Amino acid sequence: MKKLLVGNWKMNKNSHEVAEFFKTFNEHFSEKREAWIASQSIHFPIVEELKTSGVKAGLQNCSEHIDGAFTGEVSPRALKDMNGHFVILGHSERRQYFGETSRGLNAKVRTVMNEGLVAVYCVGETLSERENGQTLSIIEDQLHQGLNDQSKANIDNLIIAYEPVWAIGTGKTATPKEAQEVHAYIRSILQTKFPSFGDKTRILYGGSVKPDNIEELLAQKDIDGGLVGGASLKAKDFLALCGDK
Ligand code: 13P
Repeated sequence: MKKLLVGNWKMNKNSHEVAEFFKTFNEHFSEKREAWIASQSIHFPIVEELKTSGVKAGLQNCSEHIDGAFTGEVSPRALKDMNGHFVILGHSERRQYFGETSRGLNAKVRTVMNEGLVAVYCVGETLSERENGQTLSIIEDQLHQGLNDQSKANIDNLIIAYEPVWAIGTGKTATPKEAQEVHAYIRSILQTKFPSFGDKTRILYGGSVKPDNIEELLAQKDIDGGLVGGASLKAKDFLALCGDK
């Protein structure tokens, strides 16, 4: 399976900058690796229109409901209807600033996968949790709560992203060895939870992924790709991550 790079644009770019990005990106993207883009929801239709066909578009969050009286929310069914492919769920910024919990995210993961979208479920420890030696137990809790009772029929639509909170936007990357250790642990939990899928489920690393550290990270056995913030905003950097210099 090809390595996958998911660009999380967070709350960045205006419509002109989105167009500029794809003008450069489309010209050089070779599909050597997979490239997905999670824009702000308001930009989704522009991304969908301007991206080259090899790129998949998605969002950074959505409702756990498919429709109804939920003012201000974005429906995963509406996203699917607009040709959306995936949703990032449980990003640490959503957990930190918007009170999302693994238990609450369980419902979002379920709805997203039921709607035929891919759920990119994020887990990761804070700096103090790492320093206290709690990394693996935090990850285990986040996985159990978020994935508890998910239908095995949908597990093809699940991706896990390991994003140590202390490495996000800080320039500090987990070393490839540190990242691999956690990825292997995530893999072992998935193998137990979903025996026939654990080996296949893609596990992405996120946290200060840059063109100069990507190759070493992707060389690790259980790192299937990257979830990228800052370095996904510039077409040239994201192309480099996709293996297209
Ligand atoms: P950076 O790549 O900017 O560290 O952000 C990582 C991230 O949060 C991706 O979801």
